[in-house]
Amino acid sequence: MDQIVIRGGQRLKGRIPISGAKNAALTLLPCALLTDEPLTLRNLPRLADVDGFGHLLNQLGCSTTIEGSRPEDFGRVMTARATTLTSTVAPYDIVRKMRASILVLGPLLARAGEATVSLPGGCAIGNRPIDLHLKALEAFGAEIELASGYVKAVAPGGRLAGGKFTFPVVSVGATENAVMAAVLAKGTCVLENAAREPEIVDLCNCLVAMGAHIEGIGTETLTIEGVDRLHGATYRVMADRIEAGSYACAAVITQGDVELVGAKASEMEATLAALREAGATIEDTKGGIRVAMSGRAQPVTLSTAPYPGFATDMQAQFMAMATLGTGASLFTETIFENRYMHVPELARMGCDIQVKGRTAVVRGVDHLIGAPVMATDLRASMSLIIAGLAAQGQTEVNRVYHLDRGYERLEEKLQAVGADIERISAG
Ligand code: EPZ
Repeated sequence: MDQIVIRGGQRLKGRIPISGAKNAALTLLPCALLTDEPLTLRNLPRLADVDGFGHLLNQLGCSTTIEGSRPEDFGRVMTARATTLTSTVAPYDIVRKMRASILVLGPLLARAGEATVSLPGGCAIGNRPIDLHLKALEAFGAEIELASGYVKAVAPGGRLAGGKFTFPVVSVGATENAVMAAVLAKGTCVLENAAREPEIVDLCNCLVAMGAHIEGIGTETLTIEGVDRLHGATYRVMADRIEAGSYACAAVITQGDVELVGAKASEMEATLAALREAGATIEDTKGGIRVAMSGRAQPVTLSTAPYPGFATDMQAQFMAMATLGTGASLFTETIFENRYMHVPELARMGCDIQVKGRTAVVRGVDHLIGAPVMATDLRASMSLIIAGLAAQGQTEVNRVYHLDRGYERLEEKLQAVGADIERISAG
């Protein structure tokens, strides 16, 4: 398994290109199942999860062709076309490796009137149930059966009727599945307390480009009037606001000055507000956002929340940044039940973090000491990179396959702004 080795202490200075958003790409790709015409996605990031999703689409009969990349994009162009579906089954051996596979459930049900998808199971950060996905689809008329670890969903008469569902808890994935199921329904579907993440706006905008009728995009109430068919489209994946926020934390902890090229401030206001509270200088630039820092980070008090609140996907990275700050910072993780897996690893580097239930108190220390550490999940692994960039001596991050799921060309991007970082391939 590859390892990333960092010799800390370099201030990051320069421009970091921000790739297309992983969590937008993973909900845009299944949209190709909703039509027999080609869907072309631009600015697609080069990530393990995106490749994995492409393989899943192929298993269902959807062709995927990489077509290089446009000069104005950092990502690739992929055209996906499901002329006819050869399967409506997402098997366990694929779904267990990539939970986002559950996002084929809604599109398959809409296109083919049925879907059989392996239950994704839990992961390091929580048990990740999908009950809300299923309740929303049932509200639109689907008949759901759970058997032998699979969800089998059927639309009576081959087409969802329409209906209304109010989410008791905001769920990004359940909102995405419900929207993709609703666009081809016979009637109108209404979702209340829907997730409002920018990735959902990207999904809705792409579906509208394909001919869907969706009102309330970007709000917590989505009204989708079903249409008989959708057509192909070309759509550009939004920039990854979590990648951008992660590199912003790296800039702050190293007291550097970087431009996050392609990042959009309007999609990451809570992150930028927290960075300002920590003492960073944040400026809009022509091509993105500039993040600069001198001195140690001020203490912050942050509680994760659904968008537009502070993103749970930013918690671990911000915590790493706070470890070298002044005073004590307070974090409360309200979304997932086990999202402090980075804490024991950060402690090996000399961080002072006390976790009690959903709350963590981070007391700033004078310095961190590089050490061999273990990545446990995607965002936790990025927090270890961030700490290693500022630690004295060498940090080796193991199990970097976690990182490769969500950070494209990480070591190249960091080397380009002065980090002493390299990937040691295990062969
Ligand atoms: C998406 O996961 C993201 N993944 C996650 O990013 C992100 O952390 C999460 O949204 C929250 O923003 C992708 O987009 C591929 P949820 P998702 O459904 O959809 C509970 C990363 O690091 N819930 O919004 O799975 C759930 O247990 C990843 O890039 C139910 O109870 O998250 C959690 O407590 C990690 N029943 C809360 O809702 C359900 O049916 C929010 O989960 C669904 C969810």
